[in-house]
Amino acid sequence: MFKEEVYKNRRQKLKEKIGTGILLFLGNTEAAFNYPSNTYSFRQDSDFLYFFGLDQPDLAGIIDIDTGEDYIFGNDFELDDIIWMGPQASVKDRAARVGVKNTGALKNLEEVISIAAKKGQKIHILPQYRNANIIKLADLLSVSHDGIKTFVSLEFIKAVISLRSIKDEYEIVEIEKAIETAHLMHTTSMKMAMPGTIEQKIAGTIEGIALSGGGSVSFPVILSTHGETLHNHHHNNILETGRMMVTDAGCETALHYASDITRTVPVGGKFNQRQKEIYEIVLKANLEVINNSKPDVFYKDMHLLAAKTIASGLKELGLMKGNIDEAVNLGAHALFMPHGLGHMMGLDVHDMEGLGENYVGYDEEVQRSEQFGLAFLRLAKRLKKGYVLTDEPGIYFIPALIDLWKKENKFTDFINYSKLESYKDFGGIRIEDDLLITDNGCKVLGKPIPKTVAEIEETMKKNSN
Ligand code: GLY
Ligand code: MN
Ligand code: MN
Repeated sequence: MFKEEVYKNRRQKLKEKIGTGILLFLGNTEAAFNYPSNTYSFRQDSDFLYFFGLDQPDLAGIIDIDTGEDYIFGNDFELDDIIWMGPQASVKDRAARVGVKNTGALKNLEEVISIAAKKGQKIHILPQYRNANIIKLADLLSVSHDGIKTFVSLEFIKAVISLRSIKDEYEIVEIEKAIETAHLMHTTSMKMAMPGTIEQKIAGTIEGIALSGGGSVSFPVILSTHGETLHNHHHNNILETGRMMVTDAGCETALHYASDITRTVPVGGKFNQRQKEIYEIVLKANLEVINNSKPDVFYKDMHLLAAKTIASGLKELGLMKGNIDEAVNLGAHALFMPHGLGHMMGLDVHDMEGLGENYVGYDEEVQRSEQFGLAFLRLAKRLKKGYVLTDEPGIYFIPALIDLWKKENKFTDFINYSKLESYKDFGGIRIEDDLLITDNGCKVLGKPIPKTVAEIEETMKKNSN
């Protein structure tokens, strides 16, 4: 974990932002996989990690803004636990490491909450995403499961988002560590992308690299020669020459900071002409965003910049036509890039999404569009120094979507459906980097991962099959 001061400062800033009341945080519990004692690997709640740093199950934290006191509640290990799981530091000792002096057993939490309620203190909670914690909170607050929503506090959500959005130097070091491991995951994936290999062999190998880096994957590996399926978690295709393979994968560090990188490579290691043409367009979109992202720029405008770059490139190839500004304003390009350009990244790969995507990516200045494609943009608001976000444009040839739009005569002024027929077997290409917004621009985080056609072909020469 970070130094005690880091957590103390974070809690102090949160107190100052909210001003009064009790902030209640439930850490996560173990979650059963297929029977009670066989659990998924434990993942602590990211807000609990951010403010209290402790990475064990069954803990709760309280920040009493009115008295200035912080508390951690949890049960110490008993002999049975020690026999099965080994010795553990006491809750008191663990809490001291993150600057919290007040500790208690879990059963005391109820009493503290009930005293606060009697004193008329406002109890603030964050939105919940795990049923076990919804049930616990409902019991603790003496309301129905649905009733806990009345304790969800917008000022708490907004204060947490404003703090977690700006990454400090220690967090950047962690994120760069996660990208270091992702570098090995992606270069290994490239070297293994040879005809005859089954996707699961590569997906399993790179998930193992994530685990051996000290964390886990930051989301289930997306690896497919059908990259036109945006989040393809099936890995049962056999690689064939002529197809592209998308690998969208990242890992968490031991402290749970994420990386999220995508590379797309030609099976066998050599781009053919058609693959190279589409690839260069996606790469240009990715680079345009890197060259133009800086404080005060709306990320929605970066999304539109990527969209225009893609539409212009496709026009040069004869797949789109007409006025490109008009095509993008109307959303015609979304046939090829139906997703958003990117999202915040930090302790969650889609950072803070559990608190509400619209609070993280939108604000009073920019609201979510309802247009197909643009509606899926997770981050649209103005960028600030210290934001970490992804830049992940793509071009996909999705046969079902092409057929539907063609049948509906959609955007016939902008899309050349007859030429598109011959691309329906192409698949998809996505390129994703993780960016840090700096004083007057942005920095691509981590050691560069092969990205140009030449770099990828060079890396794939060293195939490791
Ligand atoms: N992890 C999926 C994405 O790139 O957002
Ligand atoms: Mn990704
Ligand atoms: Mn991403």
